Amino acid sequence: MNRKVSKAIFPVAGLGTRFLPATKSVPKEIMTLVDRPLIQYAIDEARAAGIEDFIFVTSRGKSALEDYFDCAPDLEAALEASGKTELLKILRSTNMESGTIAYLRQHKALGLGHAVSCARKLIGDEPFAVILPDDVIAGETPCLQQMVEAYQETGGAMVATMEVSPAQTSSYGVLDIKSQDGPIVSVKGMVEKPAPGTAPSNLAVIGRYILTPQVLANLDTIERGAGGEIQLTDAIAEEIRTGRDVFGYRFTGQRYDCGSKAGFLQATVAFALARDELREEFADFLAEMHAVRQAAQ
Ligand code: UTP
Repeated sequence: MNRKVSKAIFPVAGLGTRFLPATKSVPKEIMTLVDRPLIQYAIDEARAAGIEDFIFVTSRGKSALEDYFDCAPDLEAALEASGKTELLKILRSTNMESGTIAYLRQHKALGLGHAVSCARKLIGDEPFAVILPDDVIAGETPCLQQMVEAYQETGGAMVATMEVSPAQTSSYGVLDIKSQDGPIVSVKGMVEKPAPGTAPSNLAVIGRYILTPQVLANLDTIERGAGGEIQLTDAIAEEIRTGRDVFGYRFTGQRYDCGSKAGFLQATVAFALARDELREEFADFLAEMHAVRQAAQ
């Protein structure tokens, strides 16, 4: 069976209500960690994993995303004329080759599963990745690359997973574990947003997936699930029900939930402290803020 993963779907059609009013006119995926939009981190991770075709499932009001990946000849010319070669290099590294990027519309926000199924005609009959850009994962080896490597051994469907506290399981898809071998978890069931106290484990599904065309077929037949939405988790769980393999992959790296305000701020601090040109000034500022807060208590 073909295990080359060369296509990735980026579902970016959600409403982003947790960031209102900003997301009234700015797509969540364009919000920046330091100076790079969330979507750039996702694209870089996909490229590192060998992805060649990038499929965006978008919605109304997301045109800033499409503009972001266009070339900017005027800006490039201005930087070139003024000798700003470093900036020019950074700008050019964001250009996408013509024909490698496709945009599809999800007409109604019917859920993540529905967004993924909108891309079925572009996927055809091969395994594919799904990346949720609001889950930002920092690590030496990018998360999707770790998964693609593991997938060469396992096949089946694979989801990124990490431990969360029992109080948080009701916000995630959660794995029912059959067995574990290093970072690879064999899964015997999956539940989307289990009611508090009913989660089968504390291993939560995080926004990176390697899926088979069969999961797309399942999306056509499953009923609406948690929150009245067509859930990707349910389509993957259907694989287990029909006797096919599903794996969790416990990635190495630090994940930030940039779909939430607290997670986004944590990522901003971590990414700023990771930058040589910002670290010292920013660390001093944080120490000062901390001292002021301590003094006020
Ligand atoms: P979220 O659950 O974070 O929803 O979606 P959201 O709409 O982006 O944000 P909030 O909760 O209103 O603040 C997870 C991912 O699934 C995509 C989102 O764009 C995000 O990448 N998604 C969700 C869709 O593409 N379509 C949908 O119908 C729902």
